[in-house]
Amino acid sequence: MRILLINGPNLNALGQRDPTLYGTMTLPEIEAAVVAGGEELDTEVVCFQSNSEGAIVDYIQEQTPNAQGIIINGGALSHYGLSLRDALSDTGLPVVEVHLSNIHARESWRQRSVTGSVAKGVIAGLGWSGYMYALDYLVTEITQGSGQ
Ligand code: DQA
Repeated sequence: MRILLINGPNLNALGQRDPTLYGTMTLPEIEAAVVAGGEELDTEVVCFQSNSEGAIVDYIQEQTPNAQGIIINGGALSHYGLSLRDALSDTGLPVVEVHLSNIHARESWRQRSVTGSVAKGVIAGLGWSGYMYALDYLVTEITQGSGQ
């Protein structure tokens, strides 16, 4: 099984961004943890980060034929990235959206996610572990079907 782990704008700066919101782990550290978690579940996790919405849309279109699920933290694109939303929807793949911070406890404009509406579910506020929970869910969903 192959799962895409996609991170959007500014998530390459994790480790330097406000640690009270985003924790202290860098993106390479988080990606390594999710890849290792995938190996334990016989799942290949392929990582991609870009600060550009178009590059993420291109990546999703290219990779969809070879993937079974998507974990995405779209960063600020989650709140307004309609072409990202459409690209995710067009895949037909199960998507889990992750936010390190609890977007519902922040500014009102952050509380809405346009990409979350095409996801199976959204995990927010659990830090980097959110990516691990997303992986666990997707592997179970894809191999067994959760019935939800
Ligand atoms: C974020 C939340 C977004 O509002 C913000 O723009 C980010 C990170 C999160 O992981 O909490 O860049 O997606």
